Amino acid sequence: MILEQFSLKDRVGIVTGGGRGLGKVFCEAYADVGAAVVVAETNPDTGRQTETELREAGHRALFVETDVTERASIQALVEAALKEFGRIDFLMNNAGIVKWCPAEDVTEADWHAVMDVNLNGLFFCCQEVGRHLIAQKSGAIVNIASMSGFIANKPQAQASYNASKAAVIHLTRSLAAEWAPHNVRVNAIAPGYMGTDMARPFFEDPEYGGVWIPSIPMNRPGRPEELGPLAVYLAADASSYMTGHTVVIDGGYCAW
Ligand SMILES: NC(=O)c1ccc[n+]([C@@H]2O[C@H](COP(=O)([O-])OP(=O)(O)OC[C@H]3O[C@@H](n4cnc5c(N)ncnc54)[C@H](O)[C@@H]3O)[C@@H](O)[C@H]2O)c1
Repeated sequence: MILEQFSLKDRVGIVTGGGRGLGKVFCEAYADVGAAVVVAETNPDTGRQTETELREAGHRALFVETDVTERASIQALVEAALKEFGRIDFLMNNAGIVKWCPAEDVTEADWHAVMDVNLNGLFFCCQEVGRHLIAQKSGAIVNIASMSGFIANKPQAQASYNASKAAVIHLTRSLAAEWAPHNVRVNAIAPGYMGTDMARPFFEDPEYGGVWIPSIPMNRPGRPEELGPLAVYLAADASSYMTGHTVVIDGGYCAW
């Protein structure tokens, strides 16, 4: 009974930025519990690779080349998902970028680039998919925020990223409040430092890893797959009375 509530069998979900890193892990987690997964990704090589791997493992998957900063691209994504699978049940907003730079030197172009993907793109994905979920009177949205929405990281300077993720946390509350009457839930995950392939060199660098790791009570980066069960929980009926919240998974970083 309990485990059935974690099943996404016959459900269809979209994962933005699903080509690599955490997004790929979310695609695999959702497929593992029975969902058909739409991999929405700007990079056609990694996006198609994720689609291929999911299909080879016996799952239903579709890659749709998508740029979340372009509204027309998001609309085409929704159309493609509906054409292929006939329904959309959940959206995982994972696509995100970071730019390190002292705040006093951040260019307008870089500030807008971070906001365009992390906040504006995420919102327009919520809006386009949300309209569909509202019409069908059911659905779940899972936004990827970051512990950086609660704390300012050290030693790297990343004000634009931190501000964008704090905005995602409050946008999550706002959308949850507006869309609860439509039976559409909106929650978020705030990961701490995760040991993706891209991040690994930084953990080995004393300038960064040497500061980050001792700041984590569990004394290690997270493994990407340690986020999968929470991503499933928030998209599935298991979390049916939960909306508007952001769950932190950070090995205890924010506790110190
Ligand atoms: N890795 C970490 O330690 C960590 C910690 C906290 C939060 N996060 C968040 O998790 C998410 C994934 O991070 P990651 O480390 O896997 O990053 P990543 O750079 O490895 O992967 C991000 C993916 O998003 C795609 N993408 C970028 N811009 C896009 C756009 N405009 N449209 C569609 N796709 C786009 C990229 O092509 C890439 O495949 C991000 O939102 C990030 O801020 C990561």
